[in-house]
Amino acid sequence: MNPLQRKDLEFHWHPAVHMKSLEKYPPFVVRRASGCFIEGIDGRKVIDGISSWWCKSLGHNHPRLKAALIEQVSQFEHVIGATTTNETIIALSEKLVKLFPGMSKAFYAGDGSSAIEIALKMSLHSRINRGEHKRTKFLALAQGYHGETCGALSVSHLETFKSVYSPILFDCIVLQGIPYLNGSSDPLWNDCSAYWDSIEETLEKNSDSVTALILEPIVQGAGNMRMYSQDFLGKLRAWTKAHNIHLIADEIMTGLGRTGKMFACEHAKITPDFICLSKGLTSGWVPFSAVLTTNDIYDCFYDAAPAQMNPGKETFYHSHTYTGNVLGARLALETLTILSNDFNWSLLDEKASYMLRSLYDVAHETDVLTNIRGIGMIAAADIKDHLYTFEKMEKMIHAAFQGGALLRPLGKTIYWLPPLIIENPEIDHLREITKRALLSVF
Ligand SMILES: Cc1ncc(COP(=O)(O)O)c(C=O)c1O
Repeated sequence: MNPLQRKDLEFHWHPAVHMKSLEKYPPFVVRRASGCFIEGIDGRKVIDGISSWWCKSLGHNHPRLKAALIEQVSQFEHVIGATTTNETIIALSEKLVKLFPGMSKAFYAGDGSSAIEIALKMSLHSRINRGEHKRTKFLALAQGYHGETCGALSVSHLETFKSVYSPILFDCIVLQGIPYLNGSSDPLWNDCSAYWDSIEETLEKNSDSVTALILEPIVQGAGNMRMYSQDFLGKLRAWTKAHNIHLIADEIMTGLGRTGKMFACEHAKITPDFICLSKGLTSGWVPFSAVLTTNDIYDCFYDAAPAQMNPGKETFYHSHTYTGNVLGARLALETLTILSNDFNWSLLDEKASYMLRSLYDVAHETDVLTNIRGIGMIAAADIKDHLYTFEKMEKMIHAAFQGGALLRPLGKTIYWLPPLIIENPEIDHLREITKRALLSVF
């Protein structure tokens, strides 16, 4: 351990890591990062195989994003969002709602979990304003993950994150029996009828008391990169619409190119009532998030609301200090401009296929992986049950890091979720390091 690492462990409590394990595997001390690579103070470069918790969609230190940030910071860096506006936030809001036909308004927050809290609160609040007082519950998918503030955790289903906090969380109705698959060539992708009846039964039982169904469209990230049928997503949307239930699409991980389309909802050609975005929205430059919604929701907070509106409830109180922070907004605007005007989407498809084939190669050459799956720029596989132990996985992560790749498996699932700008030779690099790390441990 070097002196900086020692000092770090003395004063810095890291998130989502068992602190004692950092004595054995000390944190990498970063000096700079560029493209797909992170460089340490010792000059060592590691490829960012997980886009630094799934956010660095355009890679590190993108020159256009850096220029945009510098230009913005030279003008002003933050002004209260409640009663001021500026050209940047106006342009971003217009761009966001026009990117997703059917959306009409953009509301901002600082991180993904806050965006989820906002969507949950807006849905519930809109019911109160409409006099639909019975609609107070939320539906969510088994294995879903929506963040770690209390509301977001309540609608998440992963025990690892929530069990300790259950005394302060609210109940949520969980939908089981999701038609999982390994990619869009599975027949389930286009027809999940065999699964639908039992799911519809649970839905129907709760249809009068629910305000919204929340889900991660197509790929459940923290739930071990599980992928499911676009037909299922389409059926859920049709059902929610028919039963006056809102659909909240948590596109915090899937949004902005990750699944091969700008939004994962596009796979099922659906328009939800709320879309939550963060992570790739600024290409991971600063904490920033957005909730897009429809005029139908917005209007029931507006002055000219229906007669049954509850007086005094028109204002949506979610008064984040940094709402609409202009540095985040400028970075988001530039990210969206790059993605919508200057990004090669057909090349992305080719890269996605290449990456998945590469993971198949790793599986073939190591014989330790099963359930290989991929959609867009996400490729995942599970360590075979009889081989997996937590300790071995920890060793594998370390071996990969020593070999030059940052990986962060989820339980027994290893995955690649690199910056969208990754090139095929960098995928080869990731493949070789992953293969060697797996062979050295399993
Ligand atoms: C699908 C999804 N929703 C919400 C969140 C929470 O975002 P944040 O960590 O910015 O609060 C995450 C984070 O990983 C996520 O993957």
